[in-house]
Amino acid sequence: MPEPTFYATTPIYYVNDAPHIGHGYTTTIGDVITRWHRQRGERVHYLTGVDEHGQKVLRKADANGVTPQEWVDRLVENEWLPMLRTIDAANDDFIRTTETRHEKGAQAFWQDLNDRGEVYRGEFSGWYSVGSEEFVADEYVADGEGEDEGFKVSTLDGSRLEHVTEENYFFPLSKYADRLLALYEERPDFVQPESARNEVLAFVRGGLKDLSISRSTFDWGIPLPWDDSHVMYVWIEALLNYVTAAGYGVDDEQFEDLWPANVHFVGKDIVRFHAVIWPALLMAAGLPVPNRVFAHGWLLVGGQKMSKSKANGIHPTEIVGTFGSDAYRYYFTRALTFGSDGSISWEDIGARYHAELANGFGNLASRVAAMVGKYFDGELPAAGPLGDAEQHIVDTVATAVAEADEAMERIAPQDALTAVWRIVDALNLYITETQPWAVAKDESRREYLGTILNTAAEGLRVLAVTLHPVMPKATTSLWESLGAEPDLGPLADQRIDQVATWARLRPGSTVTKVPSLFPRIDLAES
Ligand code: MSP
Repeated sequence: MPEPTFYATTPIYYVNDAPHIGHGYTTTIGDVITRWHRQRGERVHYLTGVDEHGQKVLRKADANGVTPQEWVDRLVENEWLPMLRTIDAANDDFIRTTETRHEKGAQAFWQDLNDRGEVYRGEFSGWYSVGSEEFVADEYVADGEGEDEGFKVSTLDGSRLEHVTEENYFFPLSKYADRLLALYEERPDFVQPESARNEVLAFVRGGLKDLSISRSTFDWGIPLPWDDSHVMYVWIEALLNYVTAAGYGVDDEQFEDLWPANVHFVGKDIVRFHAVIWPALLMAAGLPVPNRVFAHGWLLVGGQKMSKSKANGIHPTEIVGTFGSDAYRYYFTRALTFGSDGSISWEDIGARYHAELANGFGNLASRVAAMVGKYFDGELPAAGPLGDAEQHIVDTVATAVAEADEAMERIAPQDALTAVWRIVDALNLYITETQPWAVAKDESRREYLGTILNTAAEGLRVLAVTLHPVMPKATTSLWESLGAEPDLGPLADQRIDQVATWARLRPGSTVTKVPSLFPRIDLAES
């Protein structure tokens, strides 16, 4: 049996507004991790997309005097698709919930649940948050304060509530509580990290209410197949994107290959939907649940959760425009712990850009290439016997690569980068200590000079491969300058599990000057 495809997803984003770097964060980390898996030689399917239905989007379109379809078309075209290019995402699919494949699949799914007796009709009278598109049980309702004075708010996320009374259809979520608790028990890594798992456990242990699955007071949504006077409640439709995009009900072979997903990446605010409602729906449909739901924390700006409504929402182009997409991807992977909240700042991005990328990595690459140019006319020298210092590099590389791979496996990309950076630091130290420019002055030590530069170039080869998932552009330039391609093939085909094998670059191949990978930026000016 071939290994199943590594299927990973981001949430589908509401298109009520333009994206900010909070949305870019999930997509970036998902992209880094899925690129890593491709680099391991696995088949990968990375899905992202947009959530176009629901009241939040409808109200925004109304407020702008356009139909919801016009609104989402415009935003997807002008904002959401361009964001993927801005951050250099290599997603395999992009789903829009207004697409026919999704509408058909979602209707087939709910028809099936209805046929299985998993739907009943009733009246909903209670609280609803349009901000988070969520029905909120009474125990999570509180009186608002400050600017929410006079309103009810949700204690789950602070969003403002409205009272609704509607004829609805329901899904008997409450009867799944025991099966869900058994799932969390049997598969402790189903919800990660631990903080998210604890929240979910407490929520389910606190008792589950049956869930309204339809709305009947507006029509921006997918009609229920058996009663078109109702549209699906946006969440029970949106979650289905993970199966409809995988071919549910349309392409059995693809669905078989992709489902269950290996991991759903989500923000911690929506972990309940993914770890409670979603597996219950799948259980009801007789489908396997995903392997993991991994919840990340907030990007904090000035100590506050970054969001559009707080007007501290930063568009990805603001950062990419100054630092480039590679540095953007590097920063969000390296500077934050995926799974925890983390502060970001312009100063920190600038400082890391200069210290770690320009001086640490970029400078290393250009120095080595320049010395091969200067001392060997751009032909990669052969290495003589490896001494202790060279063996230390070989060993550092082997352990760092293994550690990075293990960190990626447990979805700790920041740890993977820390491990890879030990190679950058070791190589910089190696060059400082061996002083090739001094060795070059002594003709009798020419073989040793070759050994130093060959060792350093091999180290760069490993860096090009292991950093490719994070910084695809700079590493491609580096790969080209190492002259590796004619012998070793394209960078994308270099396997992580083979990268630490030494002496793969062919002596005599042409090493060209590395273009400045991370030119210095005058931050005062930008
Ligand atoms: N449409 C739903 C998801 C449906 S998935 C079946 C939704 N959309 S959203 O656009 O509001 O949010 C999408 C994701 O962006 C969430 O995972 C959320 O956590 C993330 N982020 C929004 N602001 C964020 C930060 N400031 N920091 C990090 N992530 C943030 O929910």
